[in-house]
Amino acid sequence: MLTREDNELLTNVEKGSPMGEVFRRFWIPAVLSEELPGPDCEPVEITLLGEHLVIFRDTDGKVGLIDKYCPHRGAPMFYGRNEECGLRCVYHGWKFDVDGNCTDMPNAPEGDAFRSKIKIQSYPCVEAGSLIWTYMGPEESKPPFPEFEWCKMEENHLYVSKFKLECNYLQAMEGDYDPGHVPFLHTVLDTGVIQGPQTRFIDPAKVRTTPTDEEFPVGVGNRRVTEADRDGWGTVEDSDSGLLFIQKGEKEDGTKTVNVAPWMMPIFPTAGTTVGTTTYSTNIRVPIDNNSLYFYRVRWAYKPIPTSEIEAYKTDGWFFPEMIPGTYTPKDNVHNHYNINRVTQKYFSYSGIQCFPLQDIAMMEDQWGSIADRTLEHLTSSDFAIIAVRRKLLKVARDMAEGTEPQEPFRPAVYSYHRTRFSTAEGTLDEAVEKARSMSKEKNVAGSVTV
Ligand code: FES
Ligand SMILES: [Fe+2]
Repeated sequence: MLTREDNELLTNVEKGSPMGEVFRRFWIPAVLSEELPGPDCEPVEITLLGEHLVIFRDTDGKVGLIDKYCPHRGAPMFYGRNEECGLRCVYHGWKFDVDGNCTDMPNAPEGDAFRSKIKIQSYPCVEAGSLIWTYMGPEESKPPFPEFEWCKMEENHLYVSKFKLECNYLQAMEGDYDPGHVPFLHTVLDTGVIQGPQTRFIDPAKVRTTPTDEEFPVGVGNRRVTEADRDGWGTVEDSDSGLLFIQKGEKEDGTKTVNVAPWMMPIFPTAGTTVGTTTYSTNIRVPIDNNSLYFYRVRWAYKPIPTSEIEAYKTDGWFFPEMIPGTYTPKDNVHNHYNINRVTQKYFSYSGIQCFPLQDIAMMEDQWGSIADRTLEHLTSSDFAIIAVRRKLLKVARDMAEGTEPQEPFRPAVYSYHRTRFSTAEGTLDEAVEKARSMSKEKNVAGSVTV
């Protein structure tokens, strides 16, 4: 539970608000590279952090992100002519380059003298990892680009999808570090293990027996939490880029298994389903405004991802939802109750919602509305990671309100932290944890990653 003031502090990303200014100290994705497929292609209208903008690629292939409205008399730049290295407003012909400079003012006799005083608001862009990123803060605070390993990889090491959600970024992100929901929301009814296409993920070793005294053998079955489960949820610790979620366990045969999942300030968790056991995930929620977001699901690997795996991401409707053609809106969405299938729910899956991420999204897009009212919550011990991230974000927002800027953007190397799963029969459990922790912080170090 949060106070009304703290909830507002965390969820308001408008310009001038503390969290809005925090977001404006980081590089964030603006669009997929494929949305601007070539020089002088069609401009794209977008809203980011509540600001209405137009993004375009000029004749030289450079990308410009500018105010939606022309500084002459406010005509929409979306209708502009994109040619000859700039976007020209079609109302009276003013032209702007990717840096926002007015390069032509053909409608005015005062022309050149006045032109040099005119700029359209523009934000710098960098292209990396199949995405176009932008920095929307003050020039003097602009940090170096974060060293996400997947941003330096060849295209065949990467698959990025995008879809639009109609809720605040925070409630969408909080599902990524919520261990308590997995055995319910994402499971198959009669086994209690994670659902997959054709039950791909069912591993007999993971099927627990339903206790004979379980009062609700269908709706709870083998899912009721025990103290042992609580140990498996893990712990949270601080890192230079945010937090590390660490799960550890030791089997009776002495095998130690450690899973490290970094969460990086402010919107870069590393949870998520993958097909391959050596494919990594990063889920990024970029606020469009306080009530909607673009969700970028990045799947990447140190080795090229097999074509069959990419095909699964693109077409099987399980890892990523099918979209309404020509849009980034899922066909199953909040307006049609995600096409929940009550027969499937009764006899097969826990939720009755087909696509894995939509199972989560159905629980997120309407949590007391599109901005969750966290004054109404009743958190339990399974929400420990959610509490830890809120504390971290509240601190950075309060610091920003007092004029102290976040330090994480100026540590670009710590954005290479990645998920790691490490198993060993050697040494102690603490030594295994130390090893997994350091693997997750080293570049070019693979650990197997599984759901
Ligand atoms: S409004 Fe754009 S040139 Fe006049
Ligand atoms: Fe989930």
